[in-house]
Amino acid sequence: MRARRPFVAGNWKMNTTLKSATELAAGLAKLLPQDIPGVEVAVCPPAPYLIPVAAAIAGSGVKLGAQNCHSSKDAGAFTGEVALNMLQDVGCEYVILGHSERRSLFGETDAVVNAKVLAALGKGIKVILCVGEQLSERQANQTNAVLETQMAGSLANVAGDQLGNLVLAYEPVWAIGTGLTASPEQAESAHVFLRQWVANRYNPQIAETLRILYGGSVKGDNAKLLLGQPNIDGALVGGASLKVDQFWPIVAAGIEVGNG
Ligand code: 13P
Repeated sequence: MRARRPFVAGNWKMNTTLKSATELAAGLAKLLPQDIPGVEVAVCPPAPYLIPVAAAIAGSGVKLGAQNCHSSKDAGAFTGEVALNMLQDVGCEYVILGHSERRSLFGETDAVVNAKVLAALGKGIKVILCVGEQLSERQANQTNAVLETQMAGSLANVAGDQLGNLVLAYEPVWAIGTGLTASPEQAESAHVFLRQWVANRYNPQIAETLRILYGGSVKGDNAKLLLGQPNIDGALVGGASLKVDQFWPIVAAGIEVGNG
């Protein structure tokens, strides 16, 4: 059994319909009728489908996550936003924060991400924190510097004992939705860097237990190789999480690695 339990999460982004979301969730719940030690599985549907998806996965091994939240502690006049206590109300265990699409398309800076991370952890909602470099940054040999800046900014004032409720996701922007997967070596090397960063900023024990997922064109046919790397502890899956028969092989790779 792997020391760090593999985690496979589906980020549905702005996809699915009420019908397809419910069917997808029910299909996964059928394949994972209960929580198993070898893998942890979560789905992160669009906000309007959180409730029906929660109902479809109730009692199964599939957990629920949201794709975003507002950072305010209290309810209030924030038109269009979703509060953490609402996510909690409908059964979300996780929230994805700092996704590159939020950063690049919706102007989320590290400071914005940090406020959300602190708010979510403060509420007891677990965080899937995404970091990752753009292609131009990789080509300019700035990958580690970018990761360092995003980590320091997103985790400012986050205490070490809060990291037990946080999962990191390394998502190189150039690999998201492009079919261009980072090679297992490229991904592993970024994960090693991130783990070392956490060891330096916090301590080696926290770094050893922290799960770091890889995201970016993960598919059934590359999942085993990626998840088989010693520092890759699972996957954050976009496109391939939208069909049961594409997502399940990735979960199966997680189970195989987790049990191995
Ligand atoms: P793809 O799997 O579609 O490349 O998306 C990855 C991602 O952004 C997950 O958060």
